[in-house]
Amino acid sequence: MDYKNILLSFEGEIGILAINRPKALNALNIETLKDIQMGIQEAKDHSEMKVLILTGSGEKAFVAGADIAEMKGMNSIEALNFSKTGHLTLKMIQDLDRPVIAAVNGYALGGGTEIAVACDFIYASENARFGVPEVTLGIFPGFGGTQRLPRLIGKGKAKELIFTGKMVTAQEAYQMGIVNRVFPAASLMEETKKTALQIAANGAVGVRLAKMVVDAGFNMDLSEACSLESYAFSFGFATEDQKEGMTAFIEKRKPNFKGK
Ligand code: CAA
Repeated sequence: MDYKNILLSFEGEIGILAINRPKALNALNIETLKDIQMGIQEAKDHSEMKVLILTGSGEKAFVAGADIAEMKGMNSIEALNFSKTGHLTLKMIQDLDRPVIAAVNGYALGGGTEIAVACDFIYASENARFGVPEVTLGIFPGFGGTQRLPRLIGKGKAKELIFTGKMVTAQEAYQMGIVNRVFPAASLMEETKKTALQIAANGAVGVRLAKMVVDAGFNMDLSEACSLESYAFSFGFATEDQKEGMTAFIEKRKPNFKGK
């Protein structure tokens, strides 16, 4: 596929989608959002891929937000469509049937923090900066920042970030629970790939079911969510991977999962 603003590559079972508009610090304009949507679809169709890593090209930014130059002249209807395009893009990332890890390698501001938070979890470089500075532009977050961020870190901390628009360091983001792990910039991709490979070595159906159950169950009441878990758990017993995983344990050898 020919993309203008993303790079999509596959290294065995790992996919890497890099947002690639370094001149604008990888800011998300409509064209880039559409490229990401197509990239996610292509990654989904790549059956060999077991984990996707989302990152930004260049050393300075993951994504410096939605494209302010493009947004500046929008009327309300255009802004509604823009927000909806952003939401659809982030939902495609969230709903991808395989894990997506954000490798945040610099500024992740506004839409940048929002797209990272739509991934399953975030690894960051020491020079990463997070924040939702939209109020400093006279607006507020429009790609899920008012919704996913409170669900991830709680309402109080999310409101503090949203109302102040302040930037936080990777360490602060780690302490707030936005980021799972922080690495020196030079080892971020290597460490992210290590985790991706660790996930890819597991039973793929189990990993997919786990992602689905965590996400679908998160907003259900506990008894409904546990019931969903039981049904999904039982489905796992219809797979070859379950037979192989448990047989390998009993036979004291490494499992050879087929993803079936
Ligand atoms: N949109 C469009 N262009 C952007 C951009 C953005 N969000 N962020 C940076 N750029 C462009 C700059 O305009 C500049 O372009 P030129 O070289 O053509 O002038 C280039 O990227 C480099 O940026 P700076 O010169 O500003 O770099 P810096 O090192 O001095 O500062 C920065 C880096 C702190 C990230 C700063 O660029 C910045 O504050 N960017 C905007 C961050 C922001 O407000 N993001 C939220 C956007 S709104 C949003 O995301 C809405 C939503 O919820 C959907």
